[in-house]
Amino acid sequence: MLQNINPTKTKSWKNLNKLFQQFEGTQLKELFLNEKRVKEMSLNFQNDMFLDYSKNLLNEEILKELVNLANETGLKSAIEQMFKGERINTTENRSVLHTALRNMSDESIIVDGHDVMPDVKNVLEKMKIFSNDVVNGDWTGFTGKAISNIVNIGIGGSDLGPYMVTEALKNYKNRLNMYYVSNIDGTHISEVLKDLDPETTLFLVASKTFTTQETMTNAFTARSWFLSSAKDESFVKKHFVALSTNKQKVEEFGIDINNMFPFWNWVGGRYSLCSAIGLSISLSIGFDNFQELLTGAYEMDCHFRKSDFSENMPVILALIGIWYNNFYNCETEAILPYDQYLHRFSAYFQQGNMESNGKSVDRNGHKVDYQTGPIIWGEPGTNGQHAFYQLIHQGTKMIPCDFIGFAQSLNPIGDHHDKLMSNFFAQTQALAFGKSQEEVRTELSEKGLSEKEINLITPFKIFDGNKPTNSILIKKLTPKTLGSLIALYEHKIFVQGIIWNILSFDQWGVELGKELANKILDDLSGSTQVDSYDNSTNELISVYKKWS
Ligand code: F6P
Repeated sequence: MLQNINPTKTKSWKNLNKLFQQFEGTQLKELFLNEKRVKEMSLNFQNDMFLDYSKNLLNEEILKELVNLANETGLKSAIEQMFKGERINTTENRSVLHTALRNMSDESIIVDGHDVMPDVKNVLEKMKIFSNDVVNGDWTGFTGKAISNIVNIGIGGSDLGPYMVTEALKNYKNRLNMYYVSNIDGTHISEVLKDLDPETTLFLVASKTFTTQETMTNAFTARSWFLSSAKDESFVKKHFVALSTNKQKVEEFGIDINNMFPFWNWVGGRYSLCSAIGLSISLSIGFDNFQELLTGAYEMDCHFRKSDFSENMPVILALIGIWYNNFYNCETEAILPYDQYLHRFSAYFQQGNMESNGKSVDRNGHKVDYQTGPIIWGEPGTNGQHAFYQLIHQGTKMIPCDFIGFAQSLNPIGDHHDKLMSNFFAQTQALAFGKSQEEVRTELSEKGLSEKEINLITPFKIFDGNKPTNSILIKKLTPKTLGSLIALYEHKIFVQGIIWNILSFDQWGVELGKELANKILDDLSGSTQVDSYDNSTNELISVYKKWS
């Protein structure tokens, strides 16, 4: 059982409040007078990943107190409970074992008296054989042609993770063309199918529950599209596979059970990319690379489980996040990868964070009276610089940012990479140290502006600085380093959920909208006037019916 501790009632929280009052207003410029700061506030993971957290508004004393907070709220025991398979997802009475999916040790992991590791390995073996067959062209479609197009149909965790990773690892991909359909908007599937040939297309229906409206609607549409060419239901088994926990629903859909890649209810949807849900990744980059992704995640798992909190990357990132969220009252956090391949990374962890820690009831079932999960957003650099960085630099809100960059480019053309990375370094520097009034005035005067002009323009050109950032610099984007990076952020979310005393592995907040949509759906057909909802909804439905 996870402990039930209101973090704000702990000694460390009270100390942190005091420390905040003393510390608020401290400038990064002052903190950097300590020449050892970067050495003291950086961590190296396997000589592949360097985290510099020195450009944050905190000091050693605050960090120590944050670590005390983690200790006081039972983090150590919570981590062990997760890794050992205890049912820490209490509202669904489930274990939380995405770490078992990449467990490379000999440790057995017991759920209900049963070691899940042989099951995990069997599914991985099945994924390997299948991926090899499809990639090599041995798996053929109904006319005997090799498969060349893979369409993953899923949504949320059954789409965002695999899509993010296949995009991130495009450089490692083979001959297969990958497509992802998620939205129930018919435009999504229509636009994808219009370029495809049913003879050479394989659909992966990815759904943990196999009941999600979006996925099932898209899957049935794909099936009809396929059958309008193939004409024979017996060919479905050559073109449809299922990634799911729900055998019965898979069979009902008409997918051959041999073509089902199972996973288990102890894998949360948004933590499922290392399970069978990752089949599209394994198809796209080959199974060996998929295995490397798992290895990278496993190595971060070991670091997270074994390292002292003060040297533990996920824990440090989580504690820094809590400092801003609960003491500086920051509402959002930006994730800014300086790599085009990571263009879906922020979107993926938007779900990871916001579906996990977007909770306002604690583990006792009581309303919390403190802030929990932040709003997560972001876009790849340098695009973001020309869109929203203005507000981060000079707006009224403090937005802690994570900058993620790579030392080696996978596409080294000309000086693109140095230019990209010079922006990465420059942004965190500008955010931290800004530009003072004095500096602006000197600069303008050197440009030959008159005193009057200088007075007029100076206020607009001042950068206050003192904007916090983490920099994560990785040697190279490989399946392995990406696996470690993903696990780093997963565990950050876990740590925060434990400290906030919430349940990070359920998602009841998505249910009400689903229920209401199902109810409204019946009312959208026919010409009867709808008056069973609130006035606004009735009116909107009536306009919709008139115009549709
Ligand atoms: O958004 C709710 C949710 O249950 C997510 O947690 C999940 O990733 C997504 O829907 C898809 O669910 P499934 O894999 O069961 O189709």
